[in-house]
Amino acid sequence: MAPTLVLLAHPHLEHSRVHRGLLQALQQAGLAELEVRDLYALYPDYVIDVQAEQEALSRARLVVWQHPMHWYGMPALMKLWVDEVLSFGWAYGPGGHHLRDKDLWLVTSTGGSVHAYSEAGYNRHPFDAFMPPYAQTADLCGMRFLPPKVLHSAQRATDAELQTFAQAYLTKLRRWPDWTLHLSLPEEFTLPVSDSDRPPAE
Ligand SMILES: Cc1cc2nc3c(=O)[nH]c(=O)nc-3n(C[C@H](O)[C@H](O)[C@H](O)COP(=O)(O)O)c2cc1C
Repeated sequence: MAPTLVLLAHPHLEHSRVHRGLLQALQQAGLAELEVRDLYALYPDYVIDVQAEQEALSRARLVVWQHPMHWYGMPALMKLWVDEVLSFGWAYGPGGHHLRDKDLWLVTSTGGSVHAYSEAGYNRHPFDAFMPPYAQTADLCGMRFLPPKVLHSAQRATDAELQTFAQAYLTKLRRWPDWTLHLSLPEEFTLPVSDSDRPPAE
C-alpha cells in the first residue's frame, strides 16, 4: 500500500455510527503505511500543530479527508486545519509545491438521501454541486481530487450497509492507485496566485 494519511474530523465521535465504525475498521485492518490522525482528539482546544500536520502530509501520497457533511461542508476543526495547514508558500503560491501530485480523496456521509440531493429534493442540487470548494482547494495545491466516496441516508443505514461501506473503503485504500488510473491528472499549474491575493504575513 502507498503511504496514506487519513484525516478524520468528527466533533462527537462518541455519538457517531458511521465514522466511529470506519475508524474501527481502519484500526482493525492493520494496513501498512497508513497514518490516521483524529483531528478532534489531537486538538480538543483547536490549537493545531501546523508543522506536525505538514510533515504528515509530506509523508503521504494519498490524503483522505474523512468526515460527516456538516452544513454542506466540513466540520469546523477540519476547516481550521485547511486555513492553517495549507498555507501560502507551502501548499500554494510561490514555493508552495509540497502537495503537488498527491491525491485528495473525500470519504463522507450525509443525513440526506440520494433523492434529497437532487433537483427535486430539499437540498435542490446533486451532491457533486457542493464539491467545488473541495475540488478547487485540491487544484490550487496541485493535487488531484478523486471522486468522493459518499454514504447517503447515514442515519437510516443498517449495520450491514455500514459494514459494506467500510469494506469498500478499505478495498479502495489497499488498491489505490489502481482505481484512479483512468482519471486525468491535474492540469499543469500555470496560473500564479497574484501577490495582491496573498494573505498578509503574520
Ligand atoms: C451540525 C450538523 C450539520 C449537518 N449538516 C448536514 C448537511 O449539510 N447535509 C446532510 O446531508 N447531513 C447533514 N448532517 C447529518 C450528518 O451528516 C450525519 O448525521 C452524519 O453523516 C452521520 O455520521 P456519523 O454517524 O458518523 O455521525 C448534519 C449533522 C450535524 C450534526
